[in-house]
Amino acid sequence: MNGVDVSEVMISANEIKAMVEHTAALINKDYGDEELLVIGILTGSFIFAADLIRHLTMPVKIDFMQVSSYQGQTSTGVLTIKKDCSFDIEGKNVLIVEDIIDTGYTLKCLKELLLKRNPKSLKICTAFDKPERRVNEIEADYKGITIPDKFIVGYGLDYDGEFRNLKDICVVSMNGGN
Ligand code: IMP
Ligand code: MG
Repeated sequence: MNGVDVSEVMISANEIKAMVEHTAALINKDYGDEELLVIGILTGSFIFAADLIRHLTMPVKIDFMQVSSYQGQTSTGVLTIKKDCSFDIEGKNVLIVEDIIDTGYTLKCLKELLLKRNPKSLKICTAFDKPERRVNEIEADYKGITIPDKFIVGYGLDYDGEFRNLKDICVVSMNGGN
């Protein structure tokens, strides 16, 4: 049958849980008691952001942005903001929470945009990182799990809008038609 196969588990729900706890511990250590504004990037990060903030121990505010980036004709790319955050970030410690960094265009553009708003600090936390695909210098300050160049779904990540609800991270492969 023609279709998408997601039966191969790359990262189990238990491994994800351990990654979230480890990442939160690093963030707690770095910020101490300082207030943190977490900005989750929709839609993919909604589960990771929800899990992560429940392990944070400083005063936390949570907001979401929805953006899309296009490479366009220039190397900087173009960022379209579909939903902006509702807090004024000036003077705040801001942590961008992303599901996965692939080419890095989204975060490169977003970081430049948010820095213009004069936050006290701006850091990036990603659940998953696909460094083989990177086309610019963007690096996350907190990287959960580094993965090879495969398309993954589950734990908030989708293929064509589907599979965000899977508890494990699974690899997408195409079924040939017989
Ligand atoms: P970038 O601008 O190329 O870094 O794009 C990152 C965005 O592409 C992520 O926030 C995801 O929405 C999407 N993406 C990249 N790789 C994957 C993947 O393997 N599975 C699901 N979504 C992905
Ligand atoms: Mg995304």
